[in-house]
Amino acid sequence: MGNSWKETPRPNTHCINPAFMSAIQRKRPASTSKREPVPTERSVSSEPPKSGGLFMLAFNILTWGIVLFFVSSFLITDSWTWGYRGKWVNVNTWIPKKQIQLTEQELAKYDGTNPSLPVYIAIDGDVFDVTKGKGWYTPGGSYHFFAGRDAARAYATGCFKEHLTHDLRGLGENQLKSIEHWKTFYNNHHNYFKIGTVKHVPIDPKSPIPASCDKAMPQKPKRQQDDESNEKQK
Ligand code: HEM
Repeated sequence: MGNSWKETPRPNTHCINPAFMSAIQRKRPASTSKREPVPTERSVSSEPPKSGGLFMLAFNILTWGIVLFFVSSFLITDSWTWGYRGKWVNVNTWIPKKQIQLTEQELAKYDGTNPSLPVYIAIDGDVFDVTKGKGWYTPGGSYHFFAGRDAARAYATGCFKEHLTHDLRGLGENQLKSIEHWKTFYNNHHNYFKIGTVKHVPIDPKSPIPASCDKAMPQKPKRQQDDESNEKQK
């Protein structure tokens, strides 16, 4: 029993060479030997704001600006968009649509006579889906003659029988401007959208320029039903 310490030797943790200890202490960086200073309130506030903080500030200002814009619009105008009802508040405007190219024969199928197909009109080569306004463009509508074709000339002259063609030869500057006006009308309409272009058969330059019509507007084209009821009254 008296010799048991010799039989079970344990590592002596206290017997570290003092020279080795002082060597370790000399290598330890000065900062670890001292406690880090605790930042005071003054030292925090005097630092310039970090870029993350600036971003959050801008984000908050923007968010509240947007909320204020819509809420005040609703309170003042009873509309979330200050009364604006144009194409930019239509969700469809933001969904990119694949543009197609149609031949004149293909375009003719979309003249509103087939209720299962959309209704297209074309103006100076650009084709627009006007299905949402089919009351105007399907049979019986005041502007059915515009559907399924490019009748750009009629938009300028108001000759709704004689000028249902894309032939613009001989038109004056103002007439060409009014075609642009109608293009803009279809482009900016909140319910219509451009779906592509029509590939026209080239116009023979030797063919005669469409003659001007005598009864060129101004008068609103009649609805087919109006014509029928007038005839019945006679
Ligand atoms: C060159 C002559 C004209 C052209 C090319 C033309 C064309 C058109 C077209 C394409 C539409 C349908 C708009 C849509 O899709 O929403 C329309 C609507 C209409 N047009 Fe004409 N039009 C002409 C002359 C006239 C005239 C002379 C009148 C009246 C005296 C008239 C009265 C109307 C009215 C009241 C509407 C409905 C507008 C609405 O409620 O949105 N148009 N016109």
